[in-house]
Amino acid sequence: MSTDHLKIEHPIHPIPPRLLDEKNYPKPHIDSIQKYEELYKESIDNPDKFWARLAKEFLHWHKPFETVLSGDFEHGNIAWFQEGELNATYNCVDRHALKNPDKVAIIYEADEPDQGRNVTYGELLRDVCRLANLLKSYGVKKGDTVAIYMPMVPEAVVSFLACARIGAIHSVVFAGFSSEALKDRIIDASSKFVITADEGRRSGKTIHIKKIVDDAVKNCPIVEHVLVFRRTGSDVPFNSNRDIWWHDEIKKQRPHCPIQIVNAEDPLFILYTSGSTGKPKGLLHTTGGYLLGSAVSFKYAFDYHEGDIHGCMADIGWITGHTYIIYGPLANGATTVLFESTPLYPSPSRYWETVKKHKITQFYTAPTAIRLLRKHGQEHVKGHDLSSLRLIGTVGEPIQFEAWDWYDEVIGRKECPIIDTYWQTETGSIIITPLPGALPTKPGSAVYPFFGIDPVVLDPVTGEEISDIEAEGVLSIRKPWPSIARTIYNDHERYLNTYFRPYRGYYFTGDGVGRDKDGYYWIRGRVDDVINVSGHRLSTSEIESALLVHSSVAEAAVVGVHDDLTGQCVHAFATLKSDQEGTTDVKDLTLQVRKVIGPFAAPKRIYIVKDLPKTRSGKIMRRILRKIVAGETDQLGDLSTISDPSLISKLIDDVKNSN
Ligand code: WTA
Repeated sequence: MSTDHLKIEHPIHPIPPRLLDEKNYPKPHIDSIQKYEELYKESIDNPDKFWARLAKEFLHWHKPFETVLSGDFEHGNIAWFQEGELNATYNCVDRHALKNPDKVAIIYEADEPDQGRNVTYGELLRDVCRLANLLKSYGVKKGDTVAIYMPMVPEAVVSFLACARIGAIHSVVFAGFSSEALKDRIIDASSKFVITADEGRRSGKTIHIKKIVDDAVKNCPIVEHVLVFRRTGSDVPFNSNRDIWWHDEIKKQRPHCPIQIVNAEDPLFILYTSGSTGKPKGLLHTTGGYLLGSAVSFKYAFDYHEGDIHGCMADIGWITGHTYIIYGPLANGATTVLFESTPLYPSPSRYWETVKKHKITQFYTAPTAIRLLRKHGQEHVKGHDLSSLRLIGTVGEPIQFEAWDWYDEVIGRKECPIIDTYWQTETGSIIITPLPGALPTKPGSAVYPFFGIDPVVLDPVTGEEISDIEAEGVLSIRKPWPSIARTIYNDHERYLNTYFRPYRGYYFTGDGVGRDKDGYYWIRGRVDDVINVSGHRLSTSEIESALLVHSSVAEAAVVGVHDDLTGQCVHAFATLKSDQEGTTDVKDLTLQVRKVIGPFAAPKRIYIVKDLPKTRSGKIMRRILRKIVAGETDQLGDLSTISDPSLISKLIDDVKNSN
């Protein structure tokens, strides 16, 4: 692959003032490039020693481990800290609550700015114990999966931790998914117990969460109970044979519950994510390795110090929320913000009001939010005291220079480093990032690998490792790290096929990457059929399957298209069955996707066309559709395999006419 764009000289941003000002700010844990290099080298050359030391430093083990790493990518049998036994909730709550019960664990910033509250570690422990006892009283036990479909309220965090306390596996489903998507996940994970709320609130609007759950579980005979937390207090349907009111039952429970000590390799949770084929993958993370990866990366990537207020704006339904709202901060005994609202509610100043109000020290969001706020203009930032900020971060998609500069100048005031953190649901925690006190940054680069991560750039065609420092190819990782997902729930073969067989001996990320002359990594985006819309991972084939469920649709093809605001957006092409022409319009098809997946997956554009471009063997040529939508009709490439070349001009017209 061409390395031309690696030749562009990018400005280097040195470590900014707040990280160097030891009088007024804490001294960074990793405060020089030499220190980073020393530790990084140890983590790669001697991973057993490195991770054993950190595992003892960061976690409390009820029984010590003897083996550090076992297994390899070749066999897909990775295990960390095999003989070790621990409990994630004990590590995230008890040990802090017992020492420091009044320290705030969660700052709940509710949708309406004046309705939030703080939850201390002492309160969190009592709430978690009560819920853990409740779950036990309904027969939930170690190894059972519990589905959580909750708004961003403290009780959602309590739900995660109550499961972990008794060794149950939580399977959190983002509350933007439709009832059908929820149903599929409940069935795939065989969850007998569901935790939800009456309604959610976002941007002043009501989300009918319980109704969505009712629709989902109607078709899940496996579900025995639905526990309903009262968020808004509105009247919602209630099936007394199956549903349980949180507030009624919790009162009966004792606020003490012994922990279930589990093996390091016992599952902690399942989290579904989109892959290149239609069916979502339930990635399974285990207790010891995941918790260690979360805790260590939280401390070093965010340079966490006692007293910091960590503001991760993600949703708990995604991996970012799991790792950097809940497990990473709480394992470190930190104070974490749970933000229920959106960046625009009630005004585009909401984030900055929140930073000011809670004196947030680390602020973490997605480039899509930065682009959106930049579009609304600086005046919404002006006048807000952001002096508490020490570090600002991004995750989820590549960040463009303009957005990076705006974040740096307007939010960070050139005083705070930007950490562009690259990772995935599968990696469990951050794997490429600048360490804020040690590594100068370049806008748009995620900089260097985190401890224990041995990245390689592979030639996508030959699979050969490119050993030149300047390299362009696909990103793979050579060695296991503690928080890598261990399997796809109930489908280990798919796990092997997706991650370890495309390039034997390596973990394959699915992302394209460049490495420049300074060894800095530049994530280019997905090289598979995954589209990244506002940092949400969507699979083209999942959306195509959703369209095909519609009785009128004969064929569907979905492509990702550049979008200034959301990074990428979804454009879909559909052909209709001949007897259905005229009976179905674009609105019906959009609704169909909302129904099967959720509103966030709805295509921005749907083109109903007569025919799709195909090869002579009948494969849809998405490459051509992508070019047509992007307006690059002079670069359609090799058309010799297309079965009906006359189709192209018709498609170009169809797309033009609908714009
Ligand atoms: C993309 C989110 C560029 C990437 C934590 C990856 C990024 C996918 C970055 C994982 C970044 C994540 N720069 N791209 N800093 N971070 N991505 O599983 O394509 O929701 O494969 O995890 O997001 O998305 P996921």
